[in-house]
Amino acid sequence: MFPYSKYSGGGKRFTEYMFLPPNKVEGGGEKIVDNRKEENMYNIAIDGPAGAGKSTIAKLVAKKLGFIYVDTGSMYRTLALACIRAGVTAQEKEKVVDVCNNSEVALEYVDGNQVVRLNGEDVSAFIRTEEVGNMTSSIAVYEPVREILVKMQQKIATEKDLVMDGRDIGSVVLPNAELKIYLTASVSTRARRRYKELQEKGVECNINDIERDIEERDYRDMNREVSPLTQTEDAILVDSSDMTIDEVVDKIIGYVSR
Ligand code: DC
Repeated sequence: MFPYSKYSGGGKRFTEYMFLPPNKVEGGGEKIVDNRKEENMYNIAIDGPAGAGKSTIAKLVAKKLGFIYVDTGSMYRTLALACIRAGVTAQEKEKVVDVCNNSEVALEYVDGNQVVRLNGEDVSAFIRTEEVGNMTSSIAVYEPVREILVKMQQKIATEKDLVMDGRDIGSVVLPNAELKIYLTASVSTRARRRYKELQEKGVECNINDIERDIEERDYRDMNREVSPLTQTEDAILVDSSDMTIDEVVDKIIGYVSR
């Protein structure tokens, strides 16, 4: 557990990095100043396509280093859940932006695990459904939605040593990160991993369909207008296709230097 962030109310048990609607944010609307160097924070950015193992790897790297792990996908998922609950469709951009501007997303760390709250409620258990996943990829293309979360992510990075994963971390959120990793794996490897995962959950599925879904999602993530998934020039490419989880974690940690 970490001490309070300045956004958390007194008397709360955990750190909360809370997004407040712009009219309530201190200095609202202004760009976050990147003062990480002054504060000597070490930030690791991990980007890559869906199913490359980013969250598993990022979590383990963070744990080994004693850093916090910030799963930015869960933040987008939380705003998507807010939209679903508000009965807004992804096509209604203005309404989506309005709902997002009026929702509070907060991250907490309980025993090193990230908990995500929507307007105070722990929604960690509700954001992994297909419905939320689909809504997420649709609203994540809206610039005002991204701005809200990017600011919050940049703010956290000025205060903590962290490993942050997503699609635009090295390119947009933390362009000055001390270490940038682009984690990928072949489509067939990612499809096999997902297939195994679903089978273990007892979900019937077809590996060819999974492979096609992965290809489509890659295409959407890499070709969207706003903050597309891309490997920045200074990012180290790690292809996990033929590596174990431990090997990937050790490789990344091998690149860390203070
Ligand atoms: O990593 P994930 O599957 O939880 O991400 C959910 C969606 O959010 C996915 O469609 C990509 C999007 N996303 C994004 O656009 N930018 C990020 N930094 C993280 C996720």
